[in-house]
Amino acid sequence: MRVLVTGGAGYIGSHTCVALCEHDFEPIVFDNFCNSSPEAVRRVESIVGRRIPVIEGDMRDREALLDVLERHAIEAVVHFAALKAVGESLSCPLEYFDNNITGTITLLQAMQAKAVHRLVFSSSATVYGGAETIPATEDSPLSVTNPYGRTKLVMEQLIADVCAADAGFAAMILRYFNPVGAHPSGQMGEDPKGIPNNLMPYIAQVAVGRRDKLRIFGNDWPTPDGTGIRDFIHVMDLAHAHVAALRGLPRQAGATMLNIGTGKGTSVLELVRAFEMASGRNVPFEFVGRRPGDIAELWADPSLAQEVLGWRAEYDIERMCEDTWRWQSAYPDGYA
Ligand code: NAD
Ligand code: WQD
Repeated sequence: MRVLVTGGAGYIGSHTCVALCEHDFEPIVFDNFCNSSPEAVRRVESIVGRRIPVIEGDMRDREALLDVLERHAIEAVVHFAALKAVGESLSCPLEYFDNNITGTITLLQAMQAKAVHRLVFSSSATVYGGAETIPATEDSPLSVTNPYGRTKLVMEQLIADVCAADAGFAAMILRYFNPVGAHPSGQMGEDPKGIPNNLMPYIAQVAVGRRDKLRIFGNDWPTPDGTGIRDFIHVMDLAHAHVAALRGLPRQAGATMLNIGTGKGTSVLELVRAFEMASGRNVPFEFVGRRPGDIAELWADPSLAQEVLGWRAEYDIERMCEDTWRWQSAYPDGYA
């Protein structure tokens, strides 16, 4: 099956391209490289031993999307392309609405025009907002606390409305929890531009000596060790969830929301300790005040994904840290 992978040069997209190739899908990458490097796709090619077509283009360019859908006879789309930094979305909300929402509308219009009716979409646990019920199930109340989260919720709803209006259109909406880790080869991994927003790349950059210490946002949360608890999931487990979703789409009607997590919570301090063990390096840290908008704890109930897709996460925290370290220590400056 020929699959258009929007945002395929990004962190999760590039790892998913590896999994797609290994399961006999043909990925075609569409990316404007606003937060990634073409080098990521070259690494995918060297791991899988085949060439991957790459189209440099913007999700808001309808003609470019129509052209790629037709020229490559695309049968399904995996839609990663989006801006994803919560803090940046607070200072540039319009950029986020335009990039993420306009980009998704343009994609859906192009898919309809070319009769491509299968979509896997990158959503986020951010749609559970304050997370009143833990573990979060797909029926937990939805709310958002920032413009980025709002774009994810609106995109979910847009896709569900298109599926409701067109019986032939089917979508898997995957709500990722906290993706971390790297390809086991150490050749690919997360390469955030500038100061990392997320915990794992920050820890990895401290361990490798790019930053002097981690700042832990709060040690007074109502959790056993006082630090936040999250559901970290290995990026290759996540990649395999997309393979399972593409395989499951023909059996599915409408839009199906699925939590993609491990079902296990790990605290910030537990992750720091696990990373120190995996890397053999110290990760100096200091406690600072809570980060605005953070919540104490959140993890997934991933049982619906297992039921619908036959998928579940395999990798543990130790493996997530080992694979992150293999990548970070081999390429301290990422793809640069
Ligand atoms: P990423 O920034 O590494 O990848 C996104 C890719 O999309 C980049 O290659 C970027 O250049 C591209 N892109 C962005 N806007 C584009 C546009 N208008 N046209 C073409 N390409 C564009 O991010 P990621 O971590 O790989 O995330 C992928 C998806 O998963 C995003 O939709 C994100 O919201 C979602 N998600 C990520 C996380 C996470 O913590 N990483 C968690 C939940 C959901
Ligand atoms: C995890 C824990 C922090 C950095 C974010 C987005 C969410 C989704 C995943 C896209 C928290 C603590 C972090 C640091 C720290 N992305 N922390 N020092 O906040 O669960 O989710 O990424 O959809 O939308 O909000 O992940 O990695 O930022 O934080 O102490 O330097 O680590 O306070 O407890 P989060 P995170």
